This record gives sequence, structure tokens and C-alpha cells, in this order.
Amino acid sequence: MKQYLISMLDVKNNLEEIIDLGINLKNKSKNGESIELLKGKTLGMIFEKSSTRTRVSFEVGMSKLGGHAIFLSTNDIQLGRGETIEDTALVLSRYVDLIMYRAKSNEAMKELAEHATIPVINGLDDKEHPCQVISDLMTIKEQKESLKGLNFVYLGDGNNNMAHSYLLGCGIAGINIKIVSPKKYLPEQYYVDEAKKFGVNVEITDKVEDSTKDADIIATDTWISMGDESEKNARIEEFKGYTIDDKLMKLANPDAIFMHCLPAYYGYEVTKEIAHGTQSVIFDEAENRLWAQIGIMVTLLK
Ligand code: CP
Ligand code: NVA
Repeated sequence: MKQYLISMLDVKNNLEEIIDLGINLKNKSKNGESIELLKGKTLGMIFEKSSTRTRVSFEVGMSKLGGHAIFLSTNDIQLGRGETIEDTALVLSRYVDLIMYRAKSNEAMKELAEHATIPVINGLDDKEHPCQVISDLMTIKEQKESLKGLNFVYLGDGNNNMAHSYLLGCGIAGINIKIVSPKKYLPEQYYVDEAKKFGVNVEITDKVEDSTKDADIIATDTWISMGDESEKNARIEEFKGYTIDDKLMKLANPDAIFMHCLPAYYGYEVTKEIAHGTQSVIFDEAENRLWAQIGIMVTLLK
């Protein structure tokens, strides 16, 4: 059966299993044991947008698993010159075992997954970023030991891929989630409704003051996602007051952690002092992209 990871909802029944597999393979690999579970397998990685972490972590992950990854930028492949997504999916399915796609739109992502005859992994689109949120939940589990009942507070752009995947991911993991955004940037209602179905507390507000009280995790993301560049100046004005700083961090629980998927823009969504401070786990999150995606790839190809 073809399986895929397009939305966090695709792992609603096996999220913790994937996280535990990733942690297990991370420990094995760090102890010098071989984790070559995907020998001879090939991953095709299509990029319509820039990337540092996603590209490197998938490529290194596949090589640790004994397989091989191919980087396909739409600047170079025929998809960028008008070949259809359908034909691209059908052709790649004849060569590779797995596709990772970083897409401009969720429609394109779904179209590729529909036509591919092999599993497709969403490496970010305009609606979701599931690989990042699975890695973040792995990081939270390592830091806090268990996920259920924690309080997660996200400040900033509530209407982007990270906020949407956090809503679903926290719901699935049993984590209460609060999204704090200017009214114009609240999450799409669909993601709020889906998160609520898991029975966690979901709060959506534009009030920054006191918002991080009782938080175990404080997270943010850039105010200007890829594709939003033309709105840069307006957004910087509209998000004023939503910067995570020492004051917001001190309001949270004393052992609260700070998270950011990166790339970060210091002085805007967070101060550098917090992002590089003692409570920050941003580089653990970046590392865990590697291990979480190893768990995801092994699960999809087993
Ligand atoms: N967090 C993340 O996806 O980073 P890249 O854009 O560098 O891949
Ligand atoms: N929301 C950001 C995430 C980058 C990894 C973007 O889409 O650009």
C-alpha cells in the first residue's frame, strides 16, 4: 500500500512510534552501530524553495541508512519548465523509492502524492511542515520525557505552515496549544477545529501580555515565510510587539524551553539573547530533523 506524509494528520496513529524509532536509531548510530536499514534505496528530493536543514538532513539521513539521495531543484528539472506534476510523479516513481517534495503550494503537494506510485514526504508547503513538527515533538520528548499535558505557546505568524502543523501535532500528542498572533494572521479554522478534536485545550488570541504564563514550551517562526517577501515591510509593522524576549520567557515555567524551526531573524520574532540562551533548544531541533526523518523514511519504506 502506498503511504505518505503530507499532513500531520497522516501520522495521527503512529506519531510516538516514529519519534521513538528516531530516538532509538539516533542512540544506536551515536554508539557506533550501523543503522543501514534502507540499503539500495533511493530518495528523490524536489525543491521548489530554498533549504539548508531539509536538504542536508534528508541527504545525510539517507546515507546513514545505507541508501542514496538525489537533489532535484526545480531550477534544473523539467518541472520548472512546465512539465506536469503528474508526469514528473509518474517518471520519478520508475526510478526512486521515495520522494521528498518542498512545494510552493499544498495543491501541488497533493497532486504529486496522488500520482506518484511510491511514498511522498512533505518537506514543507504553504500549509504545513510536518517533518519539522515531528522533529520538534521528538525534541520536546527528549527534554521533558513525556508529551501529554504540556502547555505549548506559539507567538507570531499563526497563519503559516509551522503554526498549522503545530496545532495538529500538539493535538495528536496531547499537548495544550495557544497561538498568539495579530488578528490578521490567525490560523485557518480547519487546523483549529482538527486540533480540538483530539481533546486538548486550544486557545487562539491576539493578546501578547501574560500569554506565556504557565508555558512549558515557547515557540515562534519567521514573520515572513518563503513566498511572503513582498509583504515584508507591512508584516514587520503588524507583528510589532510579538517578539519573544526575556520578559515573555521569564513569565513561563522556570524550566520552559524555547523553540524555533530556523532560519531565525533576530530582533524580529525573537531576540538573539533568547534564541542562543540557556533555555533554547533550537540546534537540537535542527539536529533532530536528521533523526526524526530517519524514523519517517524507515516507517514509510518498511
Ligand atoms: N527548518 C527548515 O525547514 O529549514 P530549511 O528551510 O533550511 O530546510
Ligand atoms: N514558515 C517558514 C518555515 C521555514 C522553514 C517558511 O515557510 O518560510
